[in-house]
Amino acid sequence: MPTRRAFLTGTAAALAARPSLAAVSETTVTAAPAMAQIVPAEYGPTEVWAYDGAVPGAGLRVAQGTRIRRRFVNRLPQASTIHWHGIRIDNAMDGVAGLTQDAVPPGGEFLYDFVVPDAGTYWYHPHSNTLEQLSRGLTAPLIVEEAEPPEVDRDIALTINDWRLDENAQIAGGFGNMRDGSHAGRLGNYLTANGEGDPQWDAARNERLRLRLINAASARVLRLSALGLSGHVVALDGMPLAVPEPFADLVLGPAQRADLILDVTAEAGEPAYLVSEERDGGYALATFNVTGTASAVARPAPAALPPNRLEPLELSGARAVDLRMEGGAMGGLAEARIGMRHDGGHGGHMGGPVGMRELVENGFAWALNGVAGMPEAPLVEAARGETVRVKLVNDTAWPHAMHLHGHHFHVVGEAGTGPARDTVLMDRGQTVEIAFVADNPGSWMFHCHMLAHQAAGMMTWVRVAES
Ligand code: C2O
Ligand code: CU
Repeated sequence: MPTRRAFLTGTAAALAARPSLAAVSETTVTAAPAMAQIVPAEYGPTEVWAYDGAVPGAGLRVAQGTRIRRRFVNRLPQASTIHWHGIRIDNAMDGVAGLTQDAVPPGGEFLYDFVVPDAGTYWYHPHSNTLEQLSRGLTAPLIVEEAEPPEVDRDIALTINDWRLDENAQIAGGFGNMRDGSHAGRLGNYLTANGEGDPQWDAARNERLRLRLINAASARVLRLSALGLSGHVVALDGMPLAVPEPFADLVLGPAQRADLILDVTAEAGEPAYLVSEERDGGYALATFNVTGTASAVARPAPAALPPNRLEPLELSGARAVDLRMEGGAMGGLAEARIGMRHDGGHGGHMGGPVGMRELVENGFAWALNGVAGMPEAPLVEAARGETVRVKLVNDTAWPHAMHLHGHHFHVVGEAGTGPARDTVLMDRGQTVEIAFVADNPGSWMFHCHMLAHQAAGMMTWVRVAES
């Protein structure tokens, strides 16, 4: 006889595995122009594009295993989609214009209907003319809660945006200019967390916070640290770490996330900060004003979060492919073939190789395996369940944040395999090998999440067979 507790646990697991019986979250999300006060009030509001009127959008918080039915209404002046970043989703719901669906025209609608299999911190954004639409503010958190979440006093999602504003605090144009496209991407000049330049909370000494950090910037690599807060990284890109790591300096590339469990160590009367190290010094992304004491004693380090169910890698005998990344300023790319421009643009052609001048005239600056833009054939066609290894060689003078859709992968290193991630940040000149179990059928994009790089050609795709 199972105990009552075992029975309840078994039932919950069965429900989570059978989406039709799971909780359903039915909502609408509208993308439209809006005004937002992201800079100090004396400069007035900024005209943005927003989900439901806010930057970032309010987003969603659901239980693991929930079926999300979300009607997307497009009130933008251009076609759009929603991509649910990091969710191991049904391919038809992945939101990639030109690959998994047609872009939704202005005035149109699309019903996204999918199950969230993994707990963790995710987010969503357009995948159609992504550079412009995300840079104008279209981002929102998607939080999937564990059945048994860790004990914390507060759980705060911080969506970090990097805005390029002009002197009137309006969003600067020039999306897709080749200077951004061939250098570090569209870096902004104003950072916000949850749409505010200097968000503040009251807090108490020894209070335990879970901070869910989402780097929603189109290009900026965040170097994060804390003052008056101390604790652990418990998850990266939504996926729990088997062993929480002390939080010291954390690098978060575009699209990456980190879940931190931090205790307030500052004394009452002192502030505590989450800090982004910028070239001109530390910048407070979030300020906690410590006004009292939550408990007299510090708490023990947090336990690992309950793991999500990922298939184990089968590295021996795995299929291995190379991905050569070339181009950009000071890259010396001699020639490449022009692929398709997915993402709501004009179609390309797959003629013979052309030189850099012609690539740039067509808006391209980068090539993956000799093709700028989407190649006709996928990088790899995997059988379902097969382990795939990809050796990424960054033969450019720039860092890149490579993101694979529909799967999480592991960096394969000499000391073993790293934690499951959906985006890997690579240094200039670096070679990184990743491996993943191709267990989610469909056509999945694999691209740089520095969105000006993606727009300038840094994209490919993988295909996973139905069986
Ligand atoms: Cu977050 Cu292909 O994107
Ligand atoms: Cu890049």
